[in-house]
Amino acid sequence: MKVLVVGASGQIGGHLVQRLRAAGHEVRGTYQTKQVPGLEALDLDDEAALRAASRRFAPELVILSAGWTWVDGNEDDPEASRRRNCDRPLLLADLCAEQGARFVTYSTDYVFDGERGGYREEDPTGPLNVYGEAKLALEEGLLARDAGHLILRTSTVYGPERQGKNFVYQLVRRVRAGLPFRVPTDQVACPSYGPDVAQATLDLVERGASGLWHVVGPDALDRGAFARLVCEEWGLDPAGIEFKPTAELGQRARRPLQASLDTSKLAAAGISIRGVRAGLRAMREAAESGAWAAP
Ligand SMILES: NC(=O)c1ccc[n+]([C@@H]2O[C@H](COP(=O)([O-])OP(=O)(O)OC[C@H]3O[C@@H](n4cnc5c(N)ncnc54)[C@H](OP(=O)(O)O)[C@@H]3O)[C@@H](O)[C@H]2O)c1
Repeated sequence: MKVLVVGASGQIGGHLVQRLRAAGHEVRGTYQTKQVPGLEALDLDDEAALRAASRRFAPELVILSAGWTWVDGNEDDPEASRRRNCDRPLLLADLCAEQGARFVTYSTDYVFDGERGGYREEDPTGPLNVYGEAKLALEEGLLARDAGHLILRTSTVYGPERQGKNFVYQLVRRVRAGLPFRVPTDQVACPSYGPDVAQATLDLVERGASGLWHVVGPDALDRGAFARLVCEEWGLDPAGIEFKPTAELGQRARRPLQASLDTSKLAAAGISIRGVRAGLRAMREAAESGAWAAP
């Protein structure tokens, strides 16, 4: 199958490309700022380039793992947030529909207000920040089209990656270097092992899935507890970490506090994401093997 991965230089995108190629698919991928050999440059802000890229390769499947993921940055620029995280993804979905290609993309637990956690796919939403609002508008736009698009809500993605920028990398580097690192103690979510999220994406595509799916790990834990497990795995002393409630952190965008997602639907399809301890162990081993960035 001919597959286009938009955002192939990112953490989920990198694993998608690797797995798709290993399965024998013909894959093209894009980056925006982090040039990777074999990938093409593409900026979602450049509408003409987006149209050209989707036509040039005539893909049968397009997976959009690109997005503007800096939550506080989105808060400062709602217009860019809406364009990059909603409008351009919808345009790409429409181009796919015109060309008869399947379209898959990612959303977030930040579409919920975090009042209670354990959310199912059909539960009422209520984003607290600009990033969550843009992603919710994307979900609603895709579902309204009733065109078989597939949307995976994920959360706190970690694991080995090319750029080495996810929470675990940042924590390990800073704690090792004796630099300050602040972690909220009251933001509960379901950390999700990136390579498993990529695999689950491909499994859902293979099953012909469409609509909304929660694709997160099985453990609901607060960021502080997650940080302690990272320290355990890497043999680091958590004493250097500043554990603080969200109210004291001064983050620009509001965060949902109880943002765990229910994955019964995913489990019923026979798909799961590994738990945090197993994920951190696998991440350390993969990073040490030299195949991905080392923390
Ligand atoms: N990471 C999480 O915890 C998390 C949680 C919930 C949902 N999600 C969603 O899952 C998806 C994948 O996340 P990820 O963790 O793989 O993200 P990531 O590692 O930050 O990668 C983002 C990708 O998007 C590309 N990109 C960013 N801005 C772009 C633009 N304007 N035009 C074209 N490409 C652009 C990046 O390119 P360069 O790096 O080359 O600039 C990179 O390839 C995103 O939609 C994200 O919102 C992620």
